[in-house]
Amino acid sequence: MSAPAVSTRVPYIDLAAEYRAIKDEVNPVVLQVLASGAYTLGPHVEALEREAADRCGRRHVVTVGSGTDALEFALRASGIGPGDEVLAPAMTFVATIEAIASVGARPVIVDIDPATYLMDPAQAAGATTSKTRGIIPVHLYGHPCAMDALTALAQRRQLVMIEDCAQAIEATWRGQRVGTFGTAGAFSFFPTKNLGACGDGGMVITDEVALAERVRMLRVHGSLVRDDHRLVGRTGRLDELQAAILRVKFRHLAAWTEARRAWAQQYTRLIRERLLPVAPEIAPPTEADGARHVYHIYALRVPRRDALLKFLQQQGVGALVHYSRPVHLQPAFAQFGFREGMCPVGEALARDVISLPLYPTMGAGAVEQVVEALVQFYRGSR
Ligand SMILES: Cc1ncc(COP(=O)(O)O)c(C=O)c1O
Repeated sequence: MSAPAVSTRVPYIDLAAEYRAIKDEVNPVVLQVLASGAYTLGPHVEALEREAADRCGRRHVVTVGSGTDALEFALRASGIGPGDEVLAPAMTFVATIEAIASVGARPVIVDIDPATYLMDPAQAAGATTSKTRGIIPVHLYGHPCAMDALTALAQRRQLVMIEDCAQAIEATWRGQRVGTFGTAGAFSFFPTKNLGACGDGGMVITDEVALAERVRMLRVHGSLVRDDHRLVGRTGRLDELQAAILRVKFRHLAAWTEARRAWAQQYTRLIRERLLPVAPEIAPPTEADGARHVYHIYALRVPRRDALLKFLQQQGVGALVHYSRPVHLQPAFAQFGFREGMCPVGEALARDVISLPLYPTMGAGAVEQVVEALVQFYRGSR
């Protein structure tokens, strides 16, 4: 089906608009770092770690080079390695599984709950064996997992629980911030994330001093003191420029999160009013009881997903898919012998999920335009 393209494009995300909104605060700190000559592990990194610890409510924050580093270092610092099994959900970004594989452990993939798309606690419990040492709940799309059940499981089985909070900074479960339920929380500052740097970055948050210390070592070749290398680490630090920019952005995060929530609520309202009468099979996202969703991604399930994606592209609407393949079907993990049919709920979601544009500066008109494009597609395809 084709239709004339709309006059204004709605990009999936608009990072340049975010920068323009805070340019007067960002530019001076960037220049200050350049002039300082201190480019790694300097005062901005230290200050960001203190500020993030205060805000996240954990004693220790160690910034690292990416969200993937954060997951891998947290696992490694917890002593997880060859011979261990780590539970992770079928629907997540590949980095969650990469981190498990890169410490030499075996990922055990757990299917998702059909209502929330998050790790199903009952299936996680059923997947534990005598080798299970860890669990990585992923707060996918910014929606916190059912942490009561997962925390109880981790405690009962004495599992190391590393929460993958890459998409969920500021999300809460029954009022408690994600990343504070288990051993550690791993966050990403990839530019598109709710708190994004102008490059790569991440952090590990924890109350365990020994774990924090080991992550601090892993990010600089296993050393805290020059020429004394105690662990096999690598280069995995956040640089001063990114830390300085993140400190500015942190001040806006609460307002940006509120804006995301407002646009998401508007999407859901308009979808219910205008789209469901035309396409009743569509399932807008839900916010579970006790959850505060931060809508990193506004993901909904739709019929004829691939045709819709094409139509939206023609209309100038930048929709994406997160993710078109569940992790266990990625060729990179073939070594683990995963099979199609292993996680039917995750596999079905991968076939019909779509992510609509969502960013703090988008505006009510853009939300309306996206919903109108959806209505047009489903009206035309009846
Ligand atoms: C759920 C999830 N985990 C981990 C990561 C890895 O973060 P990074 O890209 O900063 O390495 C990402 C982001 O890309 C993610 O979305």
